[in-house]
Amino acid sequence: MSTISFRLALTGLATGLSLSLSVPSAQAAEGRVIPPQMSWSFSGPFGKFDRAQLQRGFKVVKEVCANCHSMSLLRIRNLAQPGGPEFTPGQVNALAATYTVKDGPNDQGEMFDRPGRAADPFPAPFPNEQAARAANGGALPVDLSVIAKARTYERGFPQFIFDIFTQYQEQGPDYIHALMTGYKDPPPEGTPPLLPGQYFNTYMPGHLIAMPKPISDGQVEYPKGADGKSPVPETVDQYGKDVAAFLVWAAEPHMEARKRTGLQVMVFLLIFGSLLYYTKKKVWARMPDGSAAH
Ligand code: HEC
Repeated sequence: MSTISFRLALTGLATGLSLSLSVPSAQAAEGRVIPPQMSWSFSGPFGKFDRAQLQRGFKVVKEVCANCHSMSLLRIRNLAQPGGPEFTPGQVNALAATYTVKDGPNDQGEMFDRPGRAADPFPAPFPNEQAARAANGGALPVDLSVIAKARTYERGFPQFIFDIFTQYQEQGPDYIHALMTGYKDPPPEGTPPLLPGQYFNTYMPGHLIAMPKPISDGQVEYPKGADGKSPVPETVDQYGKDVAAFLVWAAEPHMEARKRTGLQVMVFLLIFGSLLYYTKKKVWARMPDGSAAH
């Protein structure tokens, strides 16, 4: 390599490094703390959802989050489809019937209330955005359908290099779990006084959030095992994990199928590639000098 191109390569490397090194500091400037990395059953190329966890996560969403947040891209019947929480169709129909849905107009031109059906979208807690804001001090509780994909961040050097090999893509659930567990009351020293309706959360960019701490220990009752106790703790940490897992599924209901197809394609390519290689060797075996075949 000539000296000039060697220098160019070095400069390129240095710029790349300094760019990637500057990412976390830029995030620090906007008040972002990188959430701790959790271990998820659905991470990596072999990842699968834990059905019981998705069912618990749904219970948390239904009993807590759905009082403020909508989830408009999800239909109630999705809860029974393969690859998700896999509630039975009976459970889903029973659940749907507990909702009241506005439908119409009927033959008299009037809107009317009817019990929910499995084919309905998830009922929103507020009729429109203005009502949602009015009930939440002006802040909008975002739709949670794809929130696990919508919240992402750079993890900076050197983490992003390892992330390529581990196929890390769980920023969303890591953030949701961190957000649930990241409330500090009173806020740490040095925080300017909070305005009414503001709360301190370590992991919210800027630290100030308009969502009050949504959940506390023991608030949601989990299904009991044979010994009469819940197999997992009923704590904010566990609720955070479960609700994050559920929201990952909600954002990508076909994730398991996608990962399975990906693996099959890789195996196919491996077999096909080696067949091609041996075919090539056989076809060209009699031409050691590489001259054209006759
Ligand atoms: C009392 C109403 C209320 C409840 C209950 C509630 N939220 Fe929120 N949530 C809000 C509001 C309001 C915002 C907007 C906050 C802001 O913009 O500062 C919000 C924002 C969020 C955000 C986005 C944060 C960001 O990065 O912008 C997430 C994620 C979230 N909520 C998840 C949840 C989950 C999960 C639950 C259930 C455990 C829940 N919320 C329960 C009102 C609520």
